[in-house]
Amino acid sequence: MMMREGQATAIHRQDYAPPAYWIDTVELTFDLDPAKTRVLNKMRLRRNPQVPAQALRLDGEELNLARVLVNGAGTSFKMDGGQLVLENLPEGDEPFELEIFTTCAPDKNTQLSGLYVSEGTFFTQCEAQGFRRITYFLDRPDVMATYSVLLRADKAAYPVLLSNGNLVESGELEDGRHFARWHDPHRKPSYLFALVAGKLVAREQKIKSRSGAEHLLQVWVRAGDLHKTEHAMNSLMASIAWDEARFGLPLDLERFMIVATSDFNMGAMENKGLNIFNTKYVLASPATATDTDFAHIESVVGHEYFHNWTGNRVTCRDWFQLSLKEGLTVFRDQEFSMDMAGSPSARAVKRIEDVRVLRTVQFPEDAGPQAHPVRPDSYVEINNFYTVTIYEKGAEVVRMQHNLVGREGFARGMKLYFERHDGQAVTCDDFAQAMADANPDSELARRLDQFKRWYSQAGTPRVRAEGSYDAQSQIYTLTLSQSCAPTPGQPDKQPFVIPVALGLLAPDGRALPLQLEGEPEAGATERTVVLAEARQSLRFVNVPEPPVPSLLRGFSAPVLLECDYSDEDLLLMLAHDGDAFNRWEAGQRLMLRAALRQLGADDSKPAGPLLPPALVEALRAVLNHPQLDPAFKDLVLTVPSETYIAEQLDEVDPQRIHALREAMRLELATALRGDWAAAWEAHRDTGAYRPDPLSAGRRALAGTALAMLCLAACQEGDPVWPGKAYQRFKDAGNMTDRFNALSALVVCGHELAQPALERFHALFRGDALVIDKWFALQASAPDRGGRALPAVRQLMQHPDFQLRNPNRARSVVFSYCNANPGGFHRADGAGYAFWAEQVLALDALNPQVAARLARSLDRWARLAEPYRAAARAAIERVAGHDGLSNDVREVVTRALG
Ligand code: PHE
Ligand code: ZN
Repeated sequence: MMMREGQATAIHRQDYAPPAYWIDTVELTFDLDPAKTRVLNKMRLRRNPQVPAQALRLDGEELNLARVLVNGAGTSFKMDGGQLVLENLPEGDEPFELEIFTTCAPDKNTQLSGLYVSEGTFFTQCEAQGFRRITYFLDRPDVMATYSVLLRADKAAYPVLLSNGNLVESGELEDGRHFARWHDPHRKPSYLFALVAGKLVAREQKIKSRSGAEHLLQVWVRAGDLHKTEHAMNSLMASIAWDEARFGLPLDLERFMIVATSDFNMGAMENKGLNIFNTKYVLASPATATDTDFAHIESVVGHEYFHNWTGNRVTCRDWFQLSLKEGLTVFRDQEFSMDMAGSPSARAVKRIEDVRVLRTVQFPEDAGPQAHPVRPDSYVEINNFYTVTIYEKGAEVVRMQHNLVGREGFARGMKLYFERHDGQAVTCDDFAQAMADANPDSELARRLDQFKRWYSQAGTPRVRAEGSYDAQSQIYTLTLSQSCAPTPGQPDKQPFVIPVALGLLAPDGRALPLQLEGEPEAGATERTVVLAEARQSLRFVNVPEPPVPSLLRGFSAPVLLECDYSDEDLLLMLAHDGDAFNRWEAGQRLMLRAALRQLGADDSKPAGPLLPPALVEALRAVLNHPQLDPAFKDLVLTVPSETYIAEQLDEVDPQRIHALREAMRLELATALRGDWAAAWEAHRDTGAYRPDPLSAGRRALAGTALAMLCLAACQEGDPVWPGKAYQRFKDAGNMTDRFNALSALVVCGHELAQPALERFHALFRGDALVIDKWFALQASAPDRGGRALPAVRQLMQHPDFQLRNPNRARSVVFSYCNANPGGFHRADGAGYAFWAEQVLALDALNPQVAARLARSLDRWARLAEPYRAAARAAIERVAGHDGLSNDVREVVTRALG
């Protein structure tokens, strides 16, 4: 068991105070040794004249302190709650020099925060508060310094020595050791510091930016992985070109490096000039990575690169402002992926995928015990606030600003933001203010204070739309109203500023020109109205027939939209809506409606089919449509997830929802059998592998078709389609097709699944990322007669299983707890007991990862009995454990409310 430093208490945004000292320069010298690394930290500091004189308090964690010198002489100091406190510093405003000599033990660092060893290579992770695990420091983002770093290590074991900035000098030392000296010309907060030392090789690329400056790009990986770095490098070059073209933001470094590690808590990290990535978001070859992996790599490489401006050049004043960099950077990476995708239809597909994540992960967070505003007011452990609310909802808040000021206006706002704040640590207010000031005539500027409630109020607003048509006057009145349920600590909400993009469809599906009362003539067929009151009415004139309103197009705001559409209205939108997002949404609403109808019925055995025949025919028409994109068809034909269905209910019976969704899938599989077979034939061959959205979409639809055909066949004991799937599994020319075939067999529970799984493991035994997929597929496989949990326990006995590697833990434990509702929510509570056991086991190794797993039971209070009581007991068991990390304690305390 590791040592826990006392119970932490909450930190409040309102308590922010500027630092009492500034650190101007830092010179770090590392003698790298896995068991005992020596760190000499030489800083130039000065008092902050704006703050009353006080002691210097430096953060530190799990460090061994050897020596402290002030201006070269010994000094008195004391320790207080982990902090190093210096009271007798030189008087006055003159800078002084502080030298601190410490040691730490990277090979004991299983938390993967600070300096650690992964497969014999040293890595650092300093966001949010890892730098204090390397040396004593003012470890807060508003203290920005210039760093020089000297790395010394054994040359044979650690031939490559990297840090931020530019390589100044390198050479040999005695005893087989060598050194490298790095200097980063850009001031930065400590969370952006990084070093890497080990046996690595690089793919290199020289590029010239628009200004003519030369840059060296490198992707560093282990020797056997070089052939899997091409896509990451291409993505990096595309990111650089995109940021320059769309926002005029150039690469400001001579050298930009990406390094991959297989031990990483998150996706990747934007350290200045030295991004460190989870291997999952770097390595890809057609034989080992799926289309989804390729797309994720492009977006994560983009995301980290875009942080160079939004995060690094302008950073956060304090961690409550985290969404300043994360929400904005997610928005930027989403736009990047859309611009890369090209066609309007591929853009819509990306938008639908992003909204799906928002609605299945962020909406539940916003409705549960961990709900918090995009800019939180307090936290116990900052690592718990790297949430979908900060990231994805934060991106939606930026997107709404984009929609309110327009594409050009947004670019102007970005320009002003950098003119004002380059080199500073600022707040979410500063960003919104720059956007508004650059667009003084916009709806954003007019309503800025009210708009900023999106930053301060938690919870998902509910928008109700009611329409009425008067044939006599040809006026269509649309009344919009909004409300937002209480969230922890926020019982009452004020109205939000909600941009609603809309259009009106005539009964034949035509888009009607829009003319509001008082306007001289009809305008375009789509416009954005702003809902800012609790209730507002819009009167459209010259409407010749009763229209169907297509609302919230492109998901123009992160809200729940309620509208009493008839089935016919929704079928009309599914067939004709000019907005691809709402076309998809109409199909989802129809399927959801069918699910809720059945769940509301007393009888759990449906009398007839679950899906109304008209819906099945409409879905058939989409599947066979000659023009629609295969990727879009695939999304339309996917039944809403169990989590999404559950979110609509006050009391959740996960087994009933699971059985119902499976039954709906089987109905779709059987009813459209011939159409699935045709879709499979039409899309099964995509030629030489390319990860572009169009061919990925074809593979996705072919994969779904195969899965549906296997599902129907297994139900009837027909061996043909499972046989074809097995053949496909063996012959596939790329991982996407191979994995889709494997998963079709596993999901339908066919006996060929076993030999296929064995063969798959034998083929890819040396490739950790592929073995992760192998584990994840089995851990999330549908439960048959309660066998999922024993199967998961068995997987954990496999020689390849390891709890301490986060990717591997996620592939088994998280896949079971988060992606296998039918297997996890057992009436006997054994799934929850397993969860409690694994949270505690992980907490002893890696509190950040443990705290993420601890979130699996967030929504326990809505579960029906017997699940509810069993879930509560499991959470209480975790909460009652001695020596819990602050991370897990905060999560379970909030969960129990
Ligand atoms: N800042 C990283 C990102 O979003 C995420 C991260 C947070 C990584 C904390 C590691 C630790 O890009
Ligand atoms: Zn980020």
